[in-house]
Amino acid sequence: MSFPLYAPAEEHDMLREAVRALAEEKIAPRAAAADENEEFPEDSYKDLVAADFHAVHVPEEYGGAGADALAAVIVIEEVARVCASSSLIPAVNKLGTVPLLLSASAELKAAYLPAVARGEAMFSYALSEAEAGSDAAAMRTRAVADGDSYVLDGVKTWITNAGISEYYTVMAVTDPSAGARGISAFVVEKSDEGVSFGPKERKLGIKGSPTRQVILENVRIPASRMIGAPGTGFKTALATLDHTRITIAAQALGIAQGALDFAVGYVKERRQFGKAIGDFQGVQFMIADMAMKLEAARQLTYAAAAKSELAMHGTPVKDLTFFSSAAKTAASDAAMEITTDAVQLLGGYGYTRDYPVERMMRDAKITQIYEGTNQIQRMVMARQLLK
Ligand code: CAA
Ligand code: FAD
Repeated sequence: MSFPLYAPAEEHDMLREAVRALAEEKIAPRAAAADENEEFPEDSYKDLVAADFHAVHVPEEYGGAGADALAAVIVIEEVARVCASSSLIPAVNKLGTVPLLLSASAELKAAYLPAVARGEAMFSYALSEAEAGSDAAAMRTRAVADGDSYVLDGVKTWITNAGISEYYTVMAVTDPSAGARGISAFVVEKSDEGVSFGPKERKLGIKGSPTRQVILENVRIPASRMIGAPGTGFKTALATLDHTRITIAAQALGIAQGALDFAVGYVKERRQFGKAIGDFQGVQFMIADMAMKLEAARQLTYAAAAKSELAMHGTPVKDLTFFSSAAKTAASDAAMEITTDAVQLLGGYGYTRDYPVERMMRDAKITQIYEGTNQIQRMVMARQLLK
């Protein structure tokens, strides 16, 4: 068969039930406070670790659960359904470590992945800079070889979970004359001398997930911490995003599902003109459209996850880049529409912090921006189609 099955297996359904139970019991009650106080939900992290849901993608040989890409999607979806900030724990652990899984030496993987699997360390991903966001190859951070070391200098911006992650995949220029082919990837540790963090960004949403600069001043690290060969860092960074844009799609699906579920419950209860507002066809059509957009995006995301899984195990998958960008774009655009409609369906109450849908609408917005804006995703898809 040339096209992989992507329907969830029984194990995936059981996983979903288990994550949903934990999410509803433990993570949901803390979601509003994480948003309101702009604080990382430390207890939710501990609960995810205790249940082994914090980094399910780490292979068994490094002490992880060895779950497939669809399982990782399901975990992120279910956590995001109640708390988008908490869903960045499994999502960013995957983003930070896929560069190692794709390109690092056996020694480097063995040195860093077990601590992530055990929940002792989180792993962030540092590509963006102030002048190099969409145009990531324009980065300025330098890594200069010096004997058996590299010395890193520069500022990485917008780094999710910066300060709380122990480890960072950092892309830096090793050969300024070679453009994208002069970029290399490294593992940097929070405890490396010369590493510091900017203040927390003051954001619209995902306020429980700290976003900070990672400042690198004369940071000397062993050359063995380079991921792959010199000059391959940009390719590793983009190949990583082919797998992890699917996790942002999962986050968007979860946020949208949370908003849809809440709105459905509300319209059955809220009465106007002597009936439940869910009895009005104008409301029913909105609910139907929301569910339809969500399911279409979900099927695209699961198909992309199946392709990611094949590619991770060495099968060349020509259209992974297209599917990954398409899933992220479809799911994030759907999430923005669905959460906005959920606020609409709650009327004035939806606009207040007494109900969760305004938080979900604010959280949904970021999924159209990070891991490449949706304009960049459309550019990536068009390049695939036209090449
Ligand atoms: N996989 C592997 N290699 C790839 C690739 C892929 N998917 N796509 C391109 N490449 C290779 C190319 O083949 C080329 O290599 P060669 O020169 O050896 O052939 C090299 O990478 C450069 O490719 P391009 O010329 O296409 O690169 P570009 O400079 O035109 O830009 C881009 C490409 C798609 C715009 C890219 O810069 C991009 O994706 N930008 C968006 C940045 C982004 O997504 N940032 C995410 C930050 S992480 C984040 O946000 C985290 C979070 O949310 C939690
Ligand atoms: P710009 O590149 O300046 O784009 C501005 C606008 O111009 C956008 O609408 C964009 O789509 C549009 N645009 C730019 N170029 C084109 C073009 N060629 N065609 C059409 N439109 C174009 N980065 C990391 O490396 N690691 C992280 O962990 C991380 N986490 C993040 C968390 C948050 C909360 C945020 C806000 C960002 C995070 N990012 C992270 C960075 C994120 O990936 C970038 O913000 C994103 O890629 C866009 O870059 P930019 O902000 O510089 O926008």
